[in-house]
Amino acid sequence: MSKKVKDFQIPVQEQMLIFEKKFREHMRTDVALLDRIMSYIVKSKGKQMRPILVFLTAGATGQIEDQTYRGASLIELLHTATLVHDDVVDDADYRRGFFSIKALWKNKTAVLVGDYLLSRGLLLAVDNGDHELLRHVSTAVKEMSEGELMQIEKARRLDITEEVYFEIIRQKTATLIAACTAVGAASSGASEEVIKKMHKMGEKIGIAFQIKDDLFDYGTDEIGKPLGIDIKEKKMTLPLIYALNNAKWLKKKEVIFKIRTQNTNQKVVREIIEFVKSSGGLEYAEEKMHEYIKEGRAILDELPDSEYKTALHQLISYVVERKK
Ligand code: IPE
Ligand code: IPE
Ligand code: MG
Ligand code: MG
Repeated sequence: MSKKVKDFQIPVQEQMLIFEKKFREHMRTDVALLDRIMSYIVKSKGKQMRPILVFLTAGATGQIEDQTYRGASLIELLHTATLVHDDVVDDADYRRGFFSIKALWKNKTAVLVGDYLLSRGLLLAVDNGDHELLRHVSTAVKEMSEGELMQIEKARRLDITEEVYFEIIRQKTATLIAACTAVGAASSGASEEVIKKMHKMGEKIGIAFQIKDDLFDYGTDEIGKPLGIDIKEKKMTLPLIYALNNAKWLKKKEVIFKIRTQNTNQKVVREIIEFVKSSGGLEYAEEKMHEYIKEGRAILDELPDSEYKTALHQLISYVVERKK
């Protein structure tokens, strides 16, 4: 399958080639099993949106430096670690169009592989004295764990509000994307004020990114990971929350009861998906996604014009238009 270069990738194509080499080196190990798993991870790479975001933001706010490469590696290592763990948490056997690590090597190994990736990221930063980058990224990883735990708590109680939903996705997804843009700016020599702005911009993009991810779950398109898994995992996302909030009392009670008791029944899951669609839940979520996109663009527009800034606008469009 040939891959077309996306327009937002063009200004950092060279950097991404170098990045990929370095990234593999940062995972190299003498432990044979582990190195095999690392090769598998590299082979089944994702969209690499986070490292691209690091490079583009660095270019848009200053110069791409050696530290920018380490920041990009650090973030992709930690992102990969959280995905390997996430598939254990969500019991998902499919990721990036391949079997997940937990599906192939089982939970025990997946937990250790996630920890290994995390520690390699930490060492990379510490060995190079990248303390500021490490602070941004560690804060994000801390918040990701908090967000994932809050999500588990809410799945148990099934009482999530829109406000809590936004707090969960800000923590579990947007903080790492905010770390990308903050790290990009910090590594380029930008001022404290610009770094803060870029962090805010990343947060807006990240929230829109997760709303899009949650919309995929209601679709039927092949996205390289399981569909309809959120309801099965009692994960209430924006389309469903909206539908419930706009349903009559009795209907709401019925749907919540079904999620509580028949969440693994395919027919019931399909029925709930239909309920969400007919309530306008998908349109509502899209509307919200566009609000965040607009706020992200407004912050980006405060930067001086450059090819990197143009590419960042294109990347923002990609976040809402992407097919996986
Ligand atoms: C997946 O992120 C986790 C979410 C925040 C939804 P990506 O969709 O960026 O994952 P890859 O790296 O491209 O597989
Ligand atoms: C993604 O959570 C965010 C992480 C903290 C890894 P999800 O469980 O919603 O993401 P996918 O759909 O599995 O990628
Ligand atoms: Mg999850
Ligand atoms: Mg998941």
